[in-house]
Amino acid sequence: MPKVPTVRLTLDPGFRVGAVDRRLFGSFVEHMGRSVYTGIYEPGHPAADPEGFRTDVLALVGELGPTVIRYPGGNFVSGYRWEDGVGPVEQRPSRLDLAWRSVESNAFGLNEFMAWTAKAGVEPMLAVNLGTRGTTEALELLEYTNYPSGTARSDLRRTHGVADPYDVRMWCLGNELDGPWQMGHKTADEYGRLAAETARAMKRFDAGLELVACGSSNAGMDTFASWEATVLEHTYPFVDYVSLHAYYDPSDGDTDSFLASAAGMDEMIDSVVATADHVGAKLRDTKKIKLSFDEWNVWYQSRFGGESSLQWQPVPELIEDVYDVTDAVVVGSLLITLLRHADRVGVACQAQLANVIGPIMTRPGGPAWRQTIFHPFARTARHARGTVLRVEPDSPVLETAKYGAVPALWATATHDEDSGEIVLFAVNRGRTDPLSVTVDLRAFPAARVAEHLVLSDADTTAANTAEQPDRVRPRAVVDTKTDDGTLTVELPAVSWTMIRLSTHASAGGTAN
Ligand code: AHR
Repeated sequence: MPKVPTVRLTLDPGFRVGAVDRRLFGSFVEHMGRSVYTGIYEPGHPAADPEGFRTDVLALVGELGPTVIRYPGGNFVSGYRWEDGVGPVEQRPSRLDLAWRSVESNAFGLNEFMAWTAKAGVEPMLAVNLGTRGTTEALELLEYTNYPSGTARSDLRRTHGVADPYDVRMWCLGNELDGPWQMGHKTADEYGRLAAETARAMKRFDAGLELVACGSSNAGMDTFASWEATVLEHTYPFVDYVSLHAYYDPSDGDTDSFLASAAGMDEMIDSVVATADHVGAKLRDTKKIKLSFDEWNVWYQSRFGGESSLQWQPVPELIEDVYDVTDAVVVGSLLITLLRHADRVGVACQAQLANVIGPIMTRPGGPAWRQTIFHPFARTARHARGTVLRVEPDSPVLETAKYGAVPALWATATHDEDSGEIVLFAVNRGRTDPLSVTVDLRAFPAARVAEHLVLSDADTTAANTAEQPDRVRPRAVVDTKTDDGTLTVELPAVSWTMIRLSTHASAGGTAN
C-alpha cells in the first residue's frame, strides 16, 4: 500500500486573520435569464405566495444562508431605468435589455426585491446605473429608497404603498465599466470621475452609506490593476470598497488547474490589496479600502455563446450550468480563500442565486433543488463565525499549468469565542491521493468533535438533478475523535471537509 501523504496544521487563538464579516456570504440576483422570473419570483406557481415569491425557493434560500444580496445587476444594471420597475405593475413598460438581449417586463422591480429580501431575511445591496445614466438618476433612486417623505421621489415611493424608507446601506457604483461589453463602457478616468462625483453626492445625503467602486471585470483584463489604481485615485476619499469579479472555468479540461482555482483568487486579492494600499500611500490617506468580491463562482463560460448569439425573448434560459462534485469542491476552496482574507475582504457575493450559475435550480411550475455547490456554501455560511484563525499547513504541493505549485491541502478555521466552537474547513485539491491531516489542538485542550462532514464521491462528475436532487450532498463521518490534543483525519482526493469542534467543557459534541 502506498503511504498516505501527511499534513500538519495548528489551530491557535493567538494567530488571527480577522473577524468574519457575515457579509462574506452574500449572493446576487440579476435580471438575467431565469434568476428573477421563474427563479425567485413566479406568480401562479403552486408554491408562490400572494406576492408571487416562490416559497420553495425561499425555504432553500433560508437553508443556503446568504446574508446580503446584490441587485439588479450585473451587466443588466448598466442599461436599467429603475423607474420602470416601480408603481402599478400594469403601467410598467416592457423594455429591451441590451445586456442579455432579453425583453424585460419590469413586473419585478425595486419594491418587489425589497419585499423579497425582508421575507428572505437578507440585507439588500443595490447597484446604480453608471453606464447609460449618471449621478442625477443615482441620487433620485437613493431619495426614493432611503428618504422618509416630503420630496418628489420619497412621496412617489409612498404613493407606491411603501410608507417607510428602506435605509439601504450598501451601494455599488455601477458594474464592470472597464468591460467593452458593458453598456456605457468607460475609461478608468471617465469612470473614476463619475464614480467619485456620484459617491461624493451620495455621501452628502448620508455619510454612513457604504459605497463600492468598480474594480476590474476579471484579473485577465489588460487594464487589471491600472484600472483599480486610476479609479481609486479619483474615488479614494468617497468610497469604502473596491469590487472584484472572478469566474473559474472548468471547461478547458485542465482539472488540476481548475481544482487550484483558489490560488488564482488568492493572488487576485493580494494584487488588489497592494494596488489599493499603493493609492492610499500616494494620497497620504491612512484609511484602508476594503474589498467587495461581489461576483465569484464556477462558470462553464465556453458553453455560453456570448451575448450576440442570443435571440430577443423574455426570460431566456441563460447559463444554467449544472454543477458536479469537482465544482462543489472548488466552491468550498474559494470560500476558504475568502475567509483567509477576512482582514480585507468585507463583502463577497456568489453569482448568482437561482438558475443562472446558481446553487439553487428551479423548473418553471415545477420543483426547486440544491445543486452540488449549494452544500459547501450553506455549511460555511452557517458555521464560519467569530474570528478567522491563521492556518498554515505544511502541505505537499501539486504542480498546475495555470498556477504553478499549489498546496494540495487548502484550509482555514474559525473560532467563535461566544459559543466556543472552532470550525476547520479543508479541501484536498489532489486528484489521486488522500491526505492524512493531523491537527494540533494543544491550545484547546477541551476540544471535542461535534460534527465531521465530507463532500466527495467516487464519481467526481456526479451532479444533482430534479430527478435525483440529493445525489450529491455532504456525508457525516462518525467516530472522529480528538486524542490528547490532536485530531487526525483522512481527506479523500477531490474533497471538501468541515469539522466542528466544541471547546467549552459544557458544550455538546461527541465525547472522546
Ligand atoms: O453574473 C453574470 C455576469 O457576469 C454579470 O452580469 C456581469 O457583471 C458579469 O460579467
